[in-house]
This record gives sequence, structure tokens and C-alpha cells, in this order.
Amino acid sequence: MLKGKHIVLGITGGIAAYKSVQLLRLLVKAGAEVQVVITPNGKEFITPVTLSALSGKPVISEFFTANTGEWHSHVDLGLWADAMVIAPATASTIGKMANGVADNMLVTTYLSAKAPVFVCPAMDLDMMAHPSTTRNLELLRSYGNHIIEAASGELASHLTGKGRMQEPEKIVAVLDEFFDRAADKSLKGKKIVITAGPTYEAIDPVRFIGNHSTGKMGFAIADEAARRGADVTVVAGPVQVKATEPSVQTIPVTSAREMLEATQARATDADIVIFAAAVADYAPAEFHDTKIKREEDGIDCIRLVKNPDIAATVASAKKSGQVMCGFALETDHEMEHASAKLERKHLDAIVLNSLRDKGAGFGTDTNKVTIVTSAGKEYRSGLKSKADVAADILDVLGAM
Ligand code: C5P
Repeated sequence: MLKGKHIVLGITGGIAAYKSVQLLRLLVKAGAEVQVVITPNGKEFITPVTLSALSGKPVISEFFTANTGEWHSHVDLGLWADAMVIAPATASTIGKMANGVADNMLVTTYLSAKAPVFVCPAMDLDMMAHPSTTRNLELLRSYGNHIIEAASGELASHLTGKGRMQEPEKIVAVLDEFFDRAADKSLKGKKIVITAGPTYEAIDPVRFIGNHSTGKMGFAIADEAARRGADVTVVAGPVQVKATEPSVQTIPVTSAREMLEATQARATDADIVIFAAAVADYAPAEFHDTKIKREEDGIDCIRLVKNPDIAATVASAKKSGQVMCGFALETDHEMEHASAKLERKHLDAIVLNSLRDKGAGFGTDTNKVTIVTSAGKEYRSGLKSKADVAADILDVLGAM
């Protein structure tokens, strides 16, 4: 799927720059049009002549061509690109990208690019492990950039050297898969209902019981499903996030009861229902019509009653052919609890988040999940952006 795609290949000053020659050859071989942008330091490692010969285009490094004074428009380049790949990406370039230090053509182009960006870090182990690098990579992920690393996990880093640039063949495979996904309309004609965000259970007109859910994961799934052609409705508790895909319909609700009603009404003819909301388990038994006054001695108790389980209620009325998927946020015995929930709630799949995983769960822009199906299959996502996790979840549910 790389045929005819416009790729900006950014090369920075790392020893792995020699691998970019092979990456460029593979991209060209796959039919992509490649414009190389190299940093001044990058030129110390690899000569632009090799790169322009392979890409068939003059390599861009400076804002101006020295002898003619021709101005290179980073804005035009950013708009021309279907994807931008920065390989190798040094700690310095990653830091500049994360913080908007646009002192060269490469970072300036990055800041103007509307296309998806793929960053392939390459540096020695200590630099990779420094909190500054970790934080900058985290920032890039939060901007929606894709980080392509050679190996993750402690064991892998011992064996292969974390920080080594990913092999060109693998980078091309990631890009290929990305463009395949972008062209994926496999959910066309499917109706998908998603619950997202927290619920607020009113105590009185100004106070409520709620939780820290932001709705990011639910909306990421909604956007990805809409990109794949689905007709998507999100039943959302009080959230700040919005769908970016204009076709997504959002039904705002406040309490668990309202969420249940709205979800039930829309789930009957849905093909897939995903329960990503963090529903409050309890609601105050009584609602005070007026604001409760500050009592001198405090309030003895607010009696709570159990909220309906939206997932269990909706899934108990599941018709054949419907696929229903819940979430489980666990702190211990993760797999056991998730599997038990799957069964108890009559779900077809459950997405397990462990609070023990850094970068997973509430509020973050990344997640790391295990998708467990009722057939006992397990899919592990690894730590990625919520958008990429959403794609994994829809891959599994779409194939059920
Ligand atoms: O039982 P627990 O709250 O851990 O289950 C989590 C799953 O059930 C999530 O998919 C959540 O959206 C759903 N749920 C629900 N209604 C509730 C509680 C949880 O739909 N009252």
C-alpha cells in the first residue's frame, strides 16, 4: 500500500543514519515517492549525494539553497506528505520535536506536517533510558505520533540493545500496515454503540459522586470505527473530549441510569456494543432538591444504592450476531478477574487494563491492554497510543 504515497524521510545525526539508505531504497522499491530532509548533523554521517541519487530528488537540508537562494517551503512539504518518517531520530531531534525547537528544516517541517509521523529512535542505551528522553517520547506519543522502537521490555533490551534503530524492513512493514488500515473500510454498514467517560451521581443540585475517567479510550475507538466506515454512536458521561471524526454521533448523559437508558435504546439494532465507560457503582439513595447546608458536626452518612450494571443488562438481551465488549481495570489477579467478568456479564470480549502498567488507564494518551475473548483467545497490545489500541480492539471485534 506504499505505492504512490508521498513520504518525507527525515534523517538526523546518528550513527544509524547508514540504515536510512536501505530504508530509502525499500520505500522507493515499494513505489513510494520520497523526499529526504536531513539535519545539518545528519550530513556528517551520510552524504546527500547518495540520498538524492536513490530518491531521485534533491535532498533538503537548509531553509535556502545556498547558491540559488531558493526557499524550501516546509509548509508545502508538510502538506505534500502522506507520512513523515524520522529515522534515525536522535535524542536531540526527539527533544526538539517534543518542545517545538524549530531550528532546522527537519523540525520545522515536522511542526507543519498534517500527515501521520513515525519516529524511529536511535541512540545508546543510557541516553534512551534518561528520563528526559522517556518524557520527550511520551510527549510525542501524546501528540499522536507513532514511535517505532526496535525492542521493548527489559529482557528484549538485554538481548538486542534497546535504543538500536528498528530495522528498515520492519519500519516499512509498520508503514505498510498503517496505510492498509487507513484504507480499511471493513466496518462499513456496521452500527457501533460505545459508552464512554464517567457517570456523575447527584447528591444535591451542586454535588455529585464521580470518577476520573476522561473518555479518551472510548472516543479513540469511536473515531477509529468511524474511519473504518461504521455508523458510530457514543453515549458519553460528562467529558471534555470530543470525537474528531465528524460522523460520530454523541449522546451526552450524566448518571448511570441515563446512560443505561440511552444505551439500551440504541443497542437493540447495533452490530457491536463496547462498554468503555467508568460507570459509578453506587448512587446516593436520595437526591436533595436543595443544596445541603454545611452542618457544623458533619453529615453522618450519605446512603448509597447500587447502580445498574449497564454492560450486564444490555448484554443479557444480546441477539445472535451481536458482539459485545467490556473493559476491566484491575490492580491484581488481572486475568482471573477479567475472565470472570467476561462470563458474568455475558460479554464476547473484555479489554483488560492493569493499573500496574505505567502509561495505562485513566487520563493518559497511551494504553496497554490485553484483549480476552469468550473463546479464550488473548491479544496483547503493548504500550501504544490509545488510537493504536483502538485499532487493535476493532481488529479483534471486527473479526468475531
Ligand atoms: O464490574 P466492573 O465495573 O469492573 O466492569 C467493568 C465493565 O463493565 C466496563 O466495561 C464497564 O463499562 C461496565 N460497567 C457497566 N455498568 C456498571 C459497571 C460497569 O456498564 N454499572
